[in-house]
Amino acid sequence: MTAGFCQRCLHYTFDYETPKTLVIPNIGVGCVFRFTQLLVVLYVVGYVCVVQKAYQETDSVISSVTTKVKGFAFTNTTDMDPRFWDVADYVIPSQGDNSFFVITNMVVTPNQTQSRCPELPNPSTTCVDDCDCIEGHSDPRGNGIQTGLCENYSTTAKTCEVLSWCPLEIDTKLPEHALLASAENFTVLIKNSITYPKFNVHRRNILPHINSSYLKRCEFNHATDPDCPIFRLKNIVSEAGEEFQDMAVKGGVLGIIIDWSCDLDWWAGKCYPKYSFRRLDSKHPVNNVAPGYNFRFAKYYKTQDGEETRTLIKAYGIRFDIIVFGTAGKFGIVPTIVNLGAALSFLSLVPVVTDWFLLTCTRKRDLYSKHKVTNLNEDAETESVSMGTGTSYGTQ
Ligand SMILES: *[C@@H]1O[C@H](CO)[C@@H](O)[C@H](O)[C@H]1NC(C)=O
Repeated sequence: MTAGFCQRCLHYTFDYETPKTLVIPNIGVGCVFRFTQLLVVLYVVGYVCVVQKAYQETDSVISSVTTKVKGFAFTNTTDMDPRFWDVADYVIPSQGDNSFFVITNMVVTPNQTQSRCPELPNPSTTCVDDCDCIEGHSDPRGNGIQTGLCENYSTTAKTCEVLSWCPLEIDTKLPEHALLASAENFTVLIKNSITYPKFNVHRRNILPHINSSYLKRCEFNHATDPDCPIFRLKNIVSEAGEEFQDMAVKGGVLGIIIDWSCDLDWWAGKCYPKYSFRRLDSKHPVNNVAPGYNFRFAKYYKTQDGEETRTLIKAYGIRFDIIVFGTAGKFGIVPTIVNLGAALSFLSLVPVVTDWFLLTCTRKRDLYSKHKVTNLNEDAETESVSMGTGTSYGTQ
């Protein structure tokens, strides 16, 4: 028993397998074979070479962006004195990295001084008498540090008094129509320089064919002026599928996306910026708690008698983020060899598929499978049995 088993082991270990060619004159099998080959070739040519450009070396973009907003506005509302606005008033900060913010709406609280005043009424600040207010207590959601007194906020409500910048800001009545509605007509010049360090390629979005007189009068438009780097804010917002005046009320974040994907091969030689626009903060129609974008800042003054006052501004507006991305590709011999090898290895699947078809789907499959594997050991064994001797190792 064991001896027979070991003999078999020996056979399997030292048997040498060599392919034998079978020619199958069957049109169906031939079709499957050629069709599978065609699929592999299409994959290599169509997807690997044309779509993926796997023959290229790649590099990702390094970029710098500067912006300049232009435009004026004039406001004349009941809340505020008539006022003229220019860039220094509505763009904050005056320069930033890859983004700029334009004020479109605001709540202004002028003439605040360091003093005491009753809190805005809400369940945690209303009081009946001084016992309800704790001296020194400060609620982060409140407006100041409690003095321990309960004061009349109005004729009907009493609230705890706080030490704060008074009068307190009342930000519940935000103008329903954006204060700076004319911000829709402001324009922004975006200057963007990029580098692909690996290929030593430098480009900028003010293309060589743009001259200064064109730059003075052009305005970006996907159809007519796709290369002009000057954008009207209203167009940016509407290309992102939003309405400027709606967005201006509560603010938001908008992405200006510059795609610098380049094909640097001489036969393609294309390297231009492509602009697209998209709203980045979520504007979910149902889950719409705390929408928009706002922040506060103040301007400080001293009155003639030396008292410090400030004007508090809660600014709502649109932040424009400029996002630059892209990869450049150029023919390289190493990626060509590596990717071609990887793709062509799929050719080894062709016989697998064809064999499967041959041995399961054809009418003469039994004949084919009989011829496909020939084990000379078995021949030898049957022979040796008939000759009545022990096993001879591959005698033929
Ligand atoms: C923006 O400009 C257009 C055309 O110049 C004008 O019709 C529109 O009223 C302006 N928008 C605002 C809010 O002033």
